[in-house]
Amino acid sequence: MSGSLQHRFPALAGPAGMWARFDGPSGTQMVDSAICAVHDWMLSGQTAAVGGPFEAAQQCQELLDITRVTLGQLFNADPRGFSFGPNTTTNNMAMANAISETLRPGDRVVGTKLDHDSNVMPWRRACERSGAEQVLANFDPLTGVLDAASVIALIDERTRWVTLPAASNLLGTMPHLEPIINRAHAVGAYVYVDAVAAAPHHAIDIAGLDCDVLVTSPYKWYGPHCGVIWCRPELMAELDIWRVRPAGDSGPRKFETGMPNFEAIAGTQAAARFLIEEGMDHLAEYESQVFSRLWDGLGNIAGVRRIGPSDGQLRAPTAAFVIADRDPAQISARLATEKIALWDGHAYAVEVVERLGLANRGGVIRAGVVRYIENDDVDRLLNAIERCCHSKK
Ligand SMILES: Cc1ncc(COP(=O)(O)O)c(C=O)c1O
Repeated sequence: MSGSLQHRFPALAGPAGMWARFDGPSGTQMVDSAICAVHDWMLSGQTAAVGGPFEAAQQCQELLDITRVTLGQLFNADPRGFSFGPNTTTNNMAMANAISETLRPGDRVVGTKLDHDSNVMPWRRACERSGAEQVLANFDPLTGVLDAASVIALIDERTRWVTLPAASNLLGTMPHLEPIINRAHAVGAYVYVDAVAAAPHHAIDIAGLDCDVLVTSPYKWYGPHCGVIWCRPELMAELDIWRVRPAGDSGPRKFETGMPNFEAIAGTQAAARFLIEEGMDHLAEYESQVFSRLWDGLGNIAGVRRIGPSDGQLRAPTAAFVIADRDPAQISARLATEKIALWDGHAYAVEVVERLGLANRGGVIRAGVVRYIENDDVDRLLNAIERCCHSKK
């Protein structure tokens, strides 16, 4: 198993270092090289507006170009397809707004109940505005698995878009996307993939997936708060993105409505380099070993019910569970007193907790493994959960 990389995460060495940070699925700590990249950019004197006649303006353009190339390398995609925005939700809202102009009554948008609301609600609004219908495929509430066939069954000749999660941010489920994407394209529909919860853990191959849009948030993979969207360049050229007149009609700047956040983009480039250098397969192997310890350990505690794929299939290393009839919020608050950070509730996966029948019961407890979580952290969490199970409150 690969060695510790905790020394690459300065936040873990300060007073925050006492904490076991299982809150990675809601945002990771930044890796040292990304922190330095933000710092160095701000000190560089290169901050300007893009495309001007002087050196700093050209450096801004170069930063955008280099970062698109690095993302292209990380995600195996045409670099011209990457645009930057504040976060994925804002990017999804802007895309769905533009796409709503192309939808007509009788059209269909197929989604899933496994998604974060960020990949549900923008499409609901687009459908409401245009008269199209949104239908959501169910997952199996017992296993947390979304069978590709249940999405494919909803795709017909009326379908214009299929919106999919590469991984569930709550259960870790990773649906088998290829057959769904093939079916969507066979009826002439476009495919929108939310890779926010998958990209920190597994290699994403945009060209191999053959999707039309893919979104990811660098702050989930050791970078700064920022949103990255990849859109097939020909599709971007067709969409009526709301923008100011000087913005071009095509190319990634079309989507970047104002001046980009260069410092966050510098940090994003460095975080992407970290993932490339670490190697996604290597990283996935490390995380899967730490996750097995957590998942198996939770399975051995009487009173804990794990929710999500169990049988060694490809998944994000995110554990969702409940403890008998205990309130998840009470458990997470108690763990916080032991300096263990994790989340309770729905984590914005609104449809997921409804489908699980847990919407009125406080949702789930969610503990995520990321590259800086180690076996010691897992043991601390398991011991604390065991004590919670034995105590009455
Ligand atoms: C799967 C998934 N999609 C979308 C989002 C929204 O991302 P952002 O916070 O960048 O808007 C999140 C955030 O947690 C997520 O986990």
